[in-house]
Amino acid sequence: MLFENQKTALPYSIFDTHAHYDDESFDGKRDELLTEIGKMGVGYIINNSTDLYRSAEKCLEIAKNHPNCYTAIGVHPETVETKGEPLDEERLKALLKQPSVVAVGEIGLDYYWSTEQKTLQHKVFRRQCEIANEMGLPVIVHDREAHGDTLEILQETRPKGSLHCFSGSVETALEIVKLGMYIGIGGVITFKNARKLVEVAEAVPIERILLETDAPYLSPVPFRGKQCNSSLIYYTAEKLAEIKGMSTEEVIDITAENAKKLFKIK
Ligand code: NI
Repeated sequence: MLFENQKTALPYSIFDTHAHYDDESFDGKRDELLTEIGKMGVGYIINNSTDLYRSAEKCLEIAKNHPNCYTAIGVHPETVETKGEPLDEERLKALLKQPSVVAVGEIGLDYYWSTEQKTLQHKVFRRQCEIANEMGLPVIVHDREAHGDTLEILQETRPKGSLHCFSGSVETALEIVKLGMYIGIGGVITFKNARKLVEVAEAVPIERILLETDAPYLSPVPFRGKQCNSSLIYYTAEKLAEIKGMSTEEVIDITAENAKKLFKIK
């Protein structure tokens, strides 16, 4: 038991579609933690890289050591913003051919900190969507305060995939669903001020929702502020079940099936 009195999903299987176990905050306990949460009902995890170097290599290494871990490889908009380096397409394509890779991610647009590299962010995001299409892979998209431009690029390039940690309006969510994409919901839905996200969860059919953590960030209530791990998805599922009038187990099952379908995992 990681936290005292923590509820577990067993015998059901949680699918965490968005995590960052390559993060340094897991150093020294990563392998033990991943083994432990596997025993608590976490059947599948997709680690999303933020760059094509240290982060990508670490995510691939984790998948080699843990059979329940899969990988998404991509250049995160914050990496584009802070490093301003052009996309190394050859390297990306080579990394995407690794056996644990199921998606291009984490990619997208982020206007929160600064927008000095807005044009470059657009270019790198658009190109990664095109490469995902060429290689028959879905995308995992990050959109922070960039809803309009993100939607525009997705409408233009039409990849399969999900919008992770969705923070937009009901209208935007339904546009994303119309594109055949999925809405990623994490611990934020359990927060007191999550009114907008609750409305999104009400409006989007359960067949189009994926569960995620964004671990080590965004732990659901009652563990808010603590380091997040995939077993805490149980609490996100519990909240979503309440919104949808379903059982927590049904929510865990259906969202895991959605993810298996999207990421082609058996
Ligand atoms: Ni993330």
